[in-house]
Amino acid sequence: MTERERELEAFRTQAHALVDWMADYLRDIERYPVRAAVQPREIIGKLPASPPSDAESFERIFNDFREIILPGMTHWQSPNFYAYFPANSSPPSILAEMLTATLGAQCMSWATSPAATELEERMMEWLREMAGLPTSFTGVLQDTASTATLCSILTAREKKTGFAVNRLGFSPSMRFTCYASSEAHSSIEKAVKIAGLGKESLRAIAVDGDFAMIPDALDQAIREDLARGFTPLCAVAALGTTGSTAIDPLRPIGEICARHGLWLHVDAAFAGSAMILPEYRGMLDGVELADTYVFNPHKWLFTNFDCSAYFVKDVEALVRTFAILPEYLKTAEAGTVKNYRDWGIQLGRRFRALKLWFVIRTFGLRGLQERLRHHLALAARQAERIRKDGRFEIMAPVPLNTICFRYHPAGVDDPTLLNSLNARLLEAVNSSGKAYLTHTKLRGLFTIRMVIGQTAVEEEHVLATWDLIRSTAERMGT
Ligand SMILES: Cc1ncc(COP(=O)(O)O)c(C=O)c1O
Repeated sequence: MTERERELEAFRTQAHALVDWMADYLRDIERYPVRAAVQPREIIGKLPASPPSDAESFERIFNDFREIILPGMTHWQSPNFYAYFPANSSPPSILAEMLTATLGAQCMSWATSPAATELEERMMEWLREMAGLPTSFTGVLQDTASTATLCSILTAREKKTGFAVNRLGFSPSMRFTCYASSEAHSSIEKAVKIAGLGKESLRAIAVDGDFAMIPDALDQAIREDLARGFTPLCAVAALGTTGSTAIDPLRPIGEICARHGLWLHVDAAFAGSAMILPEYRGMLDGVELADTYVFNPHKWLFTNFDCSAYFVKDVEALVRTFAILPEYLKTAEAGTVKNYRDWGIQLGRRFRALKLWFVIRTFGLRGLQERLRHHLALAARQAERIRKDGRFEIMAPVPLNTICFRYHPAGVDDPTLLNSLNARLLEAVNSSGKAYLTHTKLRGLFTIRMVIGQTAVEEEHVLATWDLIRSTAERMGT
């Protein structure tokens, strides 16, 4: 046997061992504390300060993975994970990621792996159809919604200035403003900062009682900025805010943007997956007025992080914003094929479409719909249980599967006391290791969020977590 053959035989044995471990891990995942139970710097203290000079065995490395790394992991694939938004995965997605890693292709251009480009094009058409988006949109995969939103704002800036900022930088006469609701995700502020617009150019538009943007407040803010000599550039509407999955009304927002000549981006990072359910498509009303739209299959469509679906109307403007063509990237097919390196920020691209292909085919559209409907039904029943329990209260509408609630025992009405009581309750629940939930503040009030969207979550998990929350609250007193 040659050295290479020996190496590959060892790889075969190790890969089989790993796959066995992976299947066991997913089967036994509920045995682990959901939130990592380690102290800051605990893990780094167990890692040698310098790299090994001699080769180490797979057995040793894998053992250290189990002993040192695993205890420091939060188990996002646990059915008792209700924190943030899920980054849910599924067996077909994991298998595809193994193939992607094995192929190890860098898919920046059509020529660097034609199948990756063409599968991505087809997957984006499938997603567009599945998610009820108009055919006027063309899709491309990005790593995250943050990147997609940045691409959108950069394209808006370039289109508005006739591509002048890319060429010449900003001129003093350019005083742009951007708009998003006060509940919008922090990635919008980050994008505005990176795009060179200055975070003070971002206006926080007021929300209504349901935490959705008030269109009239947007209109008024734009008018005030126009009167003060600013150039309103773009608005970002949230289809599902991070705090409470509030749904900004796209049609009136789109009409206001059209009237004032603003670019409109829709951030549907989490809730966009629910659009594969026709009964929720009312939320999309007016989406045809948007210039760009993003949602994350890596949140609620069983596809490993990272995988963000970005849709644009004006492909030419996108490509003109990002295209560069040094000699070493020129290929014979230019002009006849898509080179996705020009559709976003980075040059190098992972082969992300493969996992989508595996997931969509393995579940089928109907299978995906059933799983989402199951999550939505679990959430509806859990919201009802909270509503019926006089010691707890629901803090926001539940349009999808994010439940915002707090503990509010009789006789305790001081807002500061309630905030600290709920913070203590949340910490006690999470440190039990049995479930993991996170919080937000709604109108300044500490609010516990429970997002029921983990791939394997069932009623038994929700009920056990609800018991845990109630019994912890009872034990705590005030
Ligand atoms: C509404 C919303 N937009 C954007 C993001 C950022 O997503 P990503 O991590 O893909 O950048 C999130 C993350 O949770 C989100 O909830």
